[in-house]
Amino acid sequence: MMDPDQSSPLDDEFDEIASELWENNAKWWQDGFTRGADPEYEEQIIPLLVEQLAGSRSVLDIGTGEGQLSRLALTVAGVESVVGIDPTWEQIFEARNRAPRISYLKAEAATLPFADGSFDTVIACLVFEHIADLTGAISEVSRVLQENGCFLFFLNHPLLQTPNSGWIDDHIIGEQYWRIGKYLEEERSVEEVEKDIYIPFIHRPLHTYLNTLCDNSLFLTHIEEPPPPKGFLDKAPEYYDAASIPRLLFLRLKKIQF
Ligand SMILES: C[S@@+](CC[C@H](N)C(=O)[O-])C[C@H]1O[C@@H](n2cnc3c(N)ncnc32)[C@H](O)[C@@H]1O
Repeated sequence: MMDPDQSSPLDDEFDEIASELWENNAKWWQDGFTRGADPEYEEQIIPLLVEQLAGSRSVLDIGTGEGQLSRLALTVAGVESVVGIDPTWEQIFEARNRAPRISYLKAEAATLPFADGSFDTVIACLVFEHIADLTGAISEVSRVLQENGCFLFFLNHPLLQTPNSGWIDDHIIGEQYWRIGKYLEEERSVEEVEKDIYIPFIHRPLHTYLNTLCDNSLFLTHIEEPPPPKGFLDKAPEYYDAASIPRLLFLRLKKIQF
């Protein structure tokens, strides 16, 4: 694991490293996590998103990647318009190839190129754990949402998927348990997620997310911590012992201005 300047990491520096890594690894994401390749999307994220999009009409998908959730949103009854944004050119090009009818723009979460109140629904799926400017990005989500609009927010579970967390099978003391890393410390890292694939991550405790959301008029109305789905466990049998430890956190938030 590399660690880009942990003592006083500047958002801009981290973003520069991150954007280069996302450009270099866009194909890894497209091949491994889209078009049916990934059981967590197929069995968990996609069905949950379809359910949560009931009643939505105008949708923004932040960090759309190659656009799989934007394409999905457009198939949900009642959804009339979908826009996807992503700062990675390699993702935007592929998103446009895969669905020329959808509008995809190169943009990043903390500077959204839309007027106030443009959408009734914003989606962000496995994106905010890669964004340095959390406050800027959340305040933009709130700004572009209409009053009573909803934010469908998917994260790698920030408590249980902390850096250095994992299943421990300690034969000496005869105990098995899930180790949690340094949960309260915000940590920026570049992780080798598989051979030669480096991805930037930012760990933050849950209260940082929730307080930033509340500070921006986004209030929790629903939460899910689903167990890892069967298809994932079949591909990662070492996780069977830890099958009661969620990998995903889903939050539904409503914009309410008092
Ligand atoms: C793990 S992929 C998820 C893609 C998509 N949301 C999905 O679920 O298929 C993370 C995406 O976040 C994008 N991303 C990284 N930094 C971002 C930022 N500051 N603003 C918006 N998107 C960002 C990356 O380019 C990448 O496409």
